[in-house]
Amino acid sequence: MKTTRRQFIAKTSAAFAGVQFLPSRAWAQSPNGKLNLVHIGVGGMGGSDRGALRSHPKVHVAGLCDVDSGRLEGAKKQSPDAQTFDDYRELFEKLGDKIDAAVVSTPDHTHAPASMLALNLGKHVYCQKPLTHDVYEARQVRLVAAEKGVATQMGIQIHSSNEYRTATHLIQSGVIGKVHTVHAWSNKNWGYDGGPFEGEDPVPAGLNWDMWLGTAEKRPFKNGVYHPGGWRKLIDFGTGTLGDMGVHIFDTPFRALALVAPTKVKTTCRKPTGVGHPSKNIVEYEFPGTKYTTDKMIWKWYDGGYAPPKDVKLGETRLPGQASLFIGEKGQMLLPHIGNPQFYDAEGKYQKVKLPALDRVNHYHQWADAALGKGEASANFNFAGRLTESLLLGCVANRFPDKELRWDEARLKVTNLPAANKILRRTYRKGFEVENL
Ligand SMILES: NC(=O)c1ccc[n+]([C@@H]2O[C@H](COP(=O)([O-])OP(=O)(O)OC[C@H]3O[C@@H](n4cnc5c(N)ncnc54)[C@H](O)[C@@H]3O)[C@@H](O)[C@H]2O)c1
Repeated sequence: MKTTRRQFIAKTSAAFAGVQFLPSRAWAQSPNGKLNLVHIGVGGMGGSDRGALRSHPKVHVAGLCDVDSGRLEGAKKQSPDAQTFDDYRELFEKLGDKIDAAVVSTPDHTHAPASMLALNLGKHVYCQKPLTHDVYEARQVRLVAAEKGVATQMGIQIHSSNEYRTATHLIQSGVIGKVHTVHAWSNKNWGYDGGPFEGEDPVPAGLNWDMWLGTAEKRPFKNGVYHPGGWRKLIDFGTGTLGDMGVHIFDTPFRALALVAPTKVKTTCRKPTGVGHPSKNIVEYEFPGTKYTTDKMIWKWYDGGYAPPKDVKLGETRLPGQASLFIGEKGQMLLPHIGNPQFYDAEGKYQKVKLPALDRVNHYHQWADAALGKGEASANFNFAGRLTESLLLGCVANRFPDKELRWDEARLKVTNLPAANKILRRTYRKGFEVENL
C-alpha cells in the first residue's frame, strides 16, 4: 500500500525525533569509480560550486542545468561532455539512472524542489544555503535524506573553515563556561520595504522565465528585480538577510552549543507588505538548555540598520559589521565573520587564549568523499535541516512583528498563533509538485 504524505511525515517525524547528528552515509558508488554529478544553477555561486568540485580528482560533471542560456554556455565550456538542460525536471528524467549526485545552486525557492527530486531518486545532494525556503521543506528534505542514507552537505563552506571550527572547539572545551546568550548580526541589507512592482519588461533573450519562477506563481518579468541576485529580498523567492547571512553566522552557535530547535521566536521589524523582507530586523530566539548552555539560551539577531547592535558593548572593542558574540558564565567570545575567535572577560577586557592547530578541511571535497564512501559531511542535512528550520522561523516571525511565536518542534507547529502555521509551507504551482513536499 502506498504511504500517504501525512503518514510519511508522522512516521519519519517519530522515527527521527530527538536525533541530532545522524551521519550521512554513502549509499551507492558509481561503477566507474567517479562521482557523476549534475549542477543545477551554474552561474553566480553555482560557478564557485562547480570550480570547487571540479578540483576533486574523482568528480565527473555529467549534466548542467540553468534557465539562463548565457550562463549555461559558459559552464559547458568548462565541462564540454556534460549534457545541458534548462529544466531540472527533464534533467532528472533523462539522466536519473546515469548519475550519482546533484548540486543545487539556484535561488532559495528552488532548493527544496530540485533537491527533493534528487533525493527521491536516491542521489547524494550538495545544496546551497539556506537549505530551503520554507520551514516545512527543511523538515521534509532532512527526513527524506536520512531515510535514503545518502551523503548530503549544505553550502555553508565557512562551517569547515579553521576559524569556525576553532571557535566550536573552544566553546565546547568550556573556555567561557556555559553560554546563556549569543548576539549575532550582519550589516548587510537584503530587504525591500516598497510595494508591489508595476509594469513589465521584456524577458531577456535566453532566459526561461517560467522555469526561473518554478514553484512560484506566474508574474511579469521586471529588470533588476528578480534575476540575478535581487530575488533574495523578496518573500516568494528569498529569505532576506536572516536567511542569507544568518545561516552562516548562526552556524557556529548552532553547532558549538548543540542546539536543536527554539521554543520561542519574536521579531522587531516594520509591518509586513506581502512583497519584500524587512530591511531591518531584530529577531530573538529562546532555545532549551543543552550540555554547553545554561538552562535556556537566547540567540538575538540584528540586521540591516540594526547592526552592529547598539545595545551590545564589549569594552572599548569596536564591533565588526558581521559577527557573533557568545556570552558565557566565565567570559565572552567574539567571532568575526570571518576571523579567528577573540576572548574577553565579563567587563570586555581582552584575554589571550591559545588557539588549537587544526587540520584544514575542504567543505566540498568532504561531501564528494562521503558520497564515494569515505567519511561523512559535517553540514549534512540532518544538521543543516535543523539549522535552516530554526532560522526560517525568524522569517515567519517577521510576518507578525512584536508577537512571540511558541514553537512545538515535534508537531511542526506554532501553538499560539494559527495564522503563522500557514506560512510554514507554500503551495507549489501546478506542474511543479514534487513527491514528499
Ligand atoms: N555559500 C555562500 O557563501 C553563498 C554565496 C552566494 C550565494 N549563495 C547561495 O547560492 C544560491 C544562488 O545565489 P546566487 O547569488 O548565485 O544567485 P544568482 O541569481 O546570481 O544565480 C543563480 C543561478 O541559478 C540559475 N537559476 C535560477 N533559477 C534556476 C532554475 N529554476 N533552474 C536552474 N537554474 C536556475 C540562474 O540563472 C543563475 O545562474 C543561493 O541559494 C544563495 O543563497 C551562497
